[in-house]
Amino acid sequence: MFTADFIQELDKITVKYDQKKAALLPVLHHVQEKDGLITPEAEKDVAKYLELPVSHVHQVVCFYHLFRQKKQGKVHFAVCETTACALRGAEDIIGYIRQRLNIKPGETTPDGKFSLEVVECLGACETAPMMQCNKEYKGFLDKKKIDELIEKNK
Ligand code: FES
Repeated sequence: MFTADFIQELDKITVKYDQKKAALLPVLHHVQEKDGLITPEAEKDVAKYLELPVSHVHQVVCFYHLFRQKKQGKVHFAVCETTACALRGAEDIIGYIRQRLNIKPGETTPDGKFSLEVVECLGACETAPMMQCNKEYKGFLDKKKIDELIEKNK
């Protein structure tokens, strides 16, 4: 259940919208920033807060892959595999991350530090192959850059 302090944080978001329910996406992002994922309980809390059906909130959470329904690593690698990135070696990058971390896409390392996801175009094709690493875009990926990211976050 949302705390009074957290509801005050959400109020600062919803006040920017004519209708409270129009703030669904930023509210979900805020919940995810706090918890690292959006649980079924959080969906219910968001629905209650925004006066929306729980099914509506759930559909939105399921539709956008940026909303996570399961815990991810402290460092989350979301590697693009769409055309531009595929042509510039995304498969090799994904394979290298898999090998380095011994995880498959959709998995998290046992220590919870890293997770890997394969995603569609992130709109930064000019920097292919690229990925989103938490909130930052990392482009022109190669094995050296992957090594640096892993070593920095171990
Ligand atoms: S194809 Fe990878 S960012 Fe667009």
